[in-house]
Amino acid sequence: MKCLLASPGGRVDGAIRVPGDKSISHRAIMLGAIASGTTRIRGFLPGEDCLATLAAMQAMGVDVVRTGHTEVTLAGAGLRGLRPPAGPLDMGNSGTAMRLLAGLLAGQSFESTLVGDTSLSKRPMERVAQPLREMGAGIETVDGHPPLRILGGAALHGIDYAMPVASAQVKSALLLAGLYASGTTTVREPAVTRDHSERMLAAFGQAVRREGLVVHLEPAGKLEAVPVDVPGDLSSATFLILAAGLAREGSLVIEHVGLNPTRTGILEIFRLMGLDFTVEAQEVAPGAEPVGRITVRPSQLRGAVIPPALVPLAIDEFPAVFVAAALADGETVISGAEELRHKESDRIAVMASGLRALGAGIIETADGARIQGGPLGGGEVDSAGDHRIAMAFAVGASCAQGGVRILDTANVATSFPGFAALAQRIGLRIEETAGSDRPA
Ligand code: S3P
Repeated sequence: MKCLLASPGGRVDGAIRVPGDKSISHRAIMLGAIASGTTRIRGFLPGEDCLATLAAMQAMGVDVVRTGHTEVTLAGAGLRGLRPPAGPLDMGNSGTAMRLLAGLLAGQSFESTLVGDTSLSKRPMERVAQPLREMGAGIETVDGHPPLRILGGAALHGIDYAMPVASAQVKSALLLAGLYASGTTTVREPAVTRDHSERMLAAFGQAVRREGLVVHLEPAGKLEAVPVDVPGDLSSATFLILAAGLAREGSLVIEHVGLNPTRTGILEIFRLMGLDFTVEAQEVAPGAEPVGRITVRPSQLRGAVIPPALVPLAIDEFPAVFVAAALADGETVISGAEELRHKESDRIAVMASGLRALGAGIIETADGARIQGGPLGGGEVDSAGDHRIAMAFAVGASCAQGGVRILDTANVATSFPGFAALAQRIGLRIEETAGSDRPA
């Protein structure tokens, strides 16, 4: 079993980029695969999740050339050019790949099956299957979970769907199915969720109309390939931003990181908690994802009541928020975050038990936690195979009173390949091990 060994101390310094945005990389592969023409993707995230999406598209006959470590060229098959895969499509650990592809595959003429790893096999899939059935798709789940059997061959029709949970994955699945449906597909969000699908569909020539929390798509019948420049993933940057804020000296510059306003909730939360950083937006081409530079300085963190409205805008960053809270002065209250229980792990329960193992004061609630800041001890923490939990504890260990061994960390490679090496480069004392070593 892979583990991370993280030791206290270390000065955080440097100017870096983080790997490409996971959400945008998935979408670039999917839209490129069904576009007309050649899509060149720069800054692609070669993490296991996005590679699963890429492999699925290859299994359906899409010609893919990896022109570099982070460069991918796809020869689009056209909206109706995908071919039946020879066997089940393995989405690994990736909920985004499975849910978005469910929408895309619902519109195909052939049957397909989506499978995943142990974590993904426990995650709820009726949230996409049920509205897709309303659109006319034939989809079977196993008690609401993967594998997903998508019958294909259905004549889809647009629906007007009010999502019960704020989910960009559900919204995106319906918009992708909407490309194949007759009439208008309308999705109503209970709160704003990341809008990468809408932006990228528009860039590929498919108009998406937004009125407040409502998105409408009228199928244009064709996507036109365009180059995609994937910014650095703010979700990955979050761990290093926190590390630099926790450090006693140095400063960290993160270049070319995504600053889409539907993703920057974490910056507002860090600001509330006293983290000292500046953000400089950079010029981008019209229609491109916003990017910029973030500079972080050593900070004194304080507890905060996290506004529930920020939860969907920072949904993947909560493992880092839990760790920040445990090291801050005073109490932090997280609420309105029940969705965290349905991520790669139950992130409320796993963070609470890990923080407790290091001596932190945390009371778990149904939809969040109350965390009392104070010193963190060293020890052993189980990440439950959750990449973001592993990275959050690795960074927190820089301020702990002893070394921290984090168990079951192979999945860091799903979203942040090279995490330990990059962390070391900026001065953190984080190593990957096969699991038998003790922390320093
Ligand atoms: C994602 C949406 C979010 C997020 C996930 C990526 C996406 O999930 O947690 O990591 O790319 O659309 P939900 O939309 O289910 O909240």
